[in-house]
Amino acid sequence: MSMENRITELQQEAEAAIAAASSTAALEDVRVRFLGRKAELPNLLRGVSELPVEQRGAVGKAANQARRALEAQLEERAGELAVAELTARLEQDRVDITLPADPLPAVGRLHLITQTWRQIEDIFIALGYRVAEGPEVESVYYNFDALNHEPTHPARAWTDTFYLADDVLLRTHTSPMQVRSMELQEPPIFIIVPGRVYRRDSDVTHTPQFHQVEGLAVDENITLADLKGTLQTFARAMFGDDREIRLRPHFFPFTEPSVEVDVSCFNCSAGLTATGERCGICKGTGWLEILGSGMVDPNVLGHVAGNGYDPERVQGFAFGMGIERIAMLKYGVTDLRLLYDNDVRFLEQFA
Ligand code: PHE
Repeated sequence: MSMENRITELQQEAEAAIAAASSTAALEDVRVRFLGRKAELPNLLRGVSELPVEQRGAVGKAANQARRALEAQLEERAGELAVAELTARLEQDRVDITLPADPLPAVGRLHLITQTWRQIEDIFIALGYRVAEGPEVESVYYNFDALNHEPTHPARAWTDTFYLADDVLLRTHTSPMQVRSMELQEPPIFIIVPGRVYRRDSDVTHTPQFHQVEGLAVDENITLADLKGTLQTFARAMFGDDREIRLRPHFFPFTEPSVEVDVSCFNCSAGLTATGERCGICKGTGWLEILGSGMVDPNVLGHVAGNGYDPERVQGFAFGMGIERIAMLKYGVTDLRLLYDNDVRFLEQFA
């Protein structure tokens, strides 16, 4: 076969291979096979100078033309394949903007104690009360003495109360704000005092630190009926419109008379559930204890008589409730410690 024919044959073979290459990688293999350093056509070109003079021109020209034609075809095919491959990749990488975005980060919520605290505040603010807060580190005077506690009262014992010094302690209730607020403001006074209190107690229904809301109303002609009406309104706002309350005689050193207040159970009727079973929330009694209260003892007013609280002229009532207790009753929480474990699976339930 003449060299020119071999060149034509190689060119046709290469053209077929270029047309058949289905990727830029396959095309590169074709280029190496036909135009690479060890390929036949370039070899042939390099050998032209060794050919007899009369053949050199024709062979050299044919080989050069074939090489240039192949290079041009390779370049064109490479361009086509690159575009096809890019298009395919873009198609594959396409972001479906119609899909929903990643879920939003979970939104937090107020702790059940905070929710209940604010709800109690809202109810009393609507009744015309103002909110006051007092110190958690308190003097024995405001915590016990001014509240008429006997020197032998058991709550004074270091086994019951956290003392920081002989006459300084962590308040055991919010009641010290009764005398403090009356020192600051002449009657009439209508305040509630939410805040932390501390007792040396720890079990299913007690934690060493918990929350109370104190209430104090002092004016002329305040009676126990005002106390009952106020707490009835509170109980209905908190636990439902058809709640009743009842007052049971009790004792507190700083109120006279003193009462404990129960709200009718919202889970049953007179102790029996809808299916006739003994109610587990009120233990079949039909009543739930919610707070302690009473008429402010004249001895307490006596400490602030000089500021307008002459016990012959003004009277008042006071009450104190546990925020945790209210929250537990309202939401059926059976272990107080759940409120402090900070397990989100528990806390999440109270939207
Ligand atoms: N301070 C009392 C307690 O912690 C509650 C109370 C407050 C009772 C006001 C009467 C009046 O138990």
